[in-house]
Amino acid sequence: MKKNKLIVKTKSKNYPIFFGNNIINSTGTLIEKNIPGVKKICIISDGRLPRLILKKLTSSLKKYKIIIYKLKPSEKIKNISIATKIIEKLLNENFNKSDCVISLGGGIIGDLSAFVSNLTKRGLKFINIPTTLLAQVDASIGGKTGVNSKQGKNLIGTFYQPDFILSDVSTLKSLSQREIVSGYGEILKHSLIQNKKLFFWLLKNGKKIIYKRNNFFLKESIIKSCKIKCKVVEKDEKEKDLRMILNFGHTFGHGFEAAKNFSKSLNHGEAVLLGMMIASDLSYKRGKLTYKELSLIKKHYRDLKLPMHINKIFKKTDIKKIVNFMKKDKKNVSEKINLILLNKIGKTTKPKEYFLEDKVIKKFLTSYFS
Ligand SMILES: NC(=O)c1ccc[n+]([C@@H]2O[C@H](COP(=O)([O-])OP(=O)(O)OC[C@H]3O[C@@H](n4cnc5c(N)ncnc54)[C@H](O)[C@@H]3O)[C@@H](O)[C@H]2O)c1
Repeated sequence: MKKNKLIVKTKSKNYPIFFGNNIINSTGTLIEKNIPGVKKICIISDGRLPRLILKKLTSSLKKYKIIIYKLKPSEKIKNISIATKIIEKLLNENFNKSDCVISLGGGIIGDLSAFVSNLTKRGLKFINIPTTLLAQVDASIGGKTGVNSKQGKNLIGTFYQPDFILSDVSTLKSLSQREIVSGYGEILKHSLIQNKKLFFWLLKNGKKIIYKRNNFFLKESIIKSCKIKCKVVEKDEKEKDLRMILNFGHTFGHGFEAAKNFSKSLNHGEAVLLGMMIASDLSYKRGKLTYKELSLIKKHYRDLKLPMHINKIFKKTDIKKIVNFMKKDKKNVSEKINLILLNKIGKTTKPKEYFLEDKVIKKFLTSYFS
């Protein structure tokens, strides 16, 4: 890999991720080089972004016909009727397969935009410019598109790889501390499931990333994390097997988010961080992870003040709701709940290997409240 570029190689498409500081100014040039047939561009932008970010992007796209769609992100706007409205707009504007959608925002805007790009005329060009740490290290990579439905999160979706991803560390400056912590959770996840060396690097440098927002360490952590996600996605693009290890902490996390009705009181990254802590505890209780390694993980959570105490966020009476949502997870293939646990730091249980009955999980979660 050249320092500022990583190629994602999947069965359906190979595409680059460009990393840098202020590279958003070069979006136009990168489009000319990588997808030369583009004439029209629809930017689907997070309506809460600082104006300057969108301005930098539009200034680099002067030679294209641009339409801009602004949305205020929440899990509620990630739905099929908003997707349909945008698709209708693209059809009215005569977008064709060589034209392009750009997502400018976090994972919510990214998942929705990718979905729209895939469904319009069976696939427009698609560029993802993730502006949250979580989207830079996780959501933008791997081609999962999706919208939510009444029945649950991301239950309607496809796989659609972008033409390129532009990961600009300068766009993270305006991010709230909470959102930085959320994104850090996915970096930590990648280390816990695949790379012990990265975990020890994070033990040393985590504070510089989260609290000092040191540009060098931030960019390094993003690249290290993306390499891990890419490696997994390259081996199993459609989540038939290996890719499921990325769900470490997420089965609990989705249950937590849903039990809070996807409200701002617990965002996606925080729910996943809490989920990873619970899954690590369970890994120890089930005789997989050693006490020494569990203690190291806990110490890191405490040192960085990451969300780790379920009883501070939920009541005992919420457990039933949490587990019911966990049962609806689309990765389950039977009545039992499929979990990814840690055998050790850097190594998970095998996908589709570990299932627990809901009553066992209820009992385990209840133990936090005694
Ligand atoms: N497709 C995938 O593989 C995948 C993986 C992980 C998560 N996801 C999805 O991603 C979503 C979560 O993504 P997210 O955490 O990025 O949430 P998000 O898109 O809601 O962004 C979080 C918050 O940050 C704000 N924001 C975004 N960029 C900003 C910036 N540069 N400066 C200031 N504020 C900014 C947003 O307005 C929002 O309030 C969930 O819907 C989740 O399901 C998808």
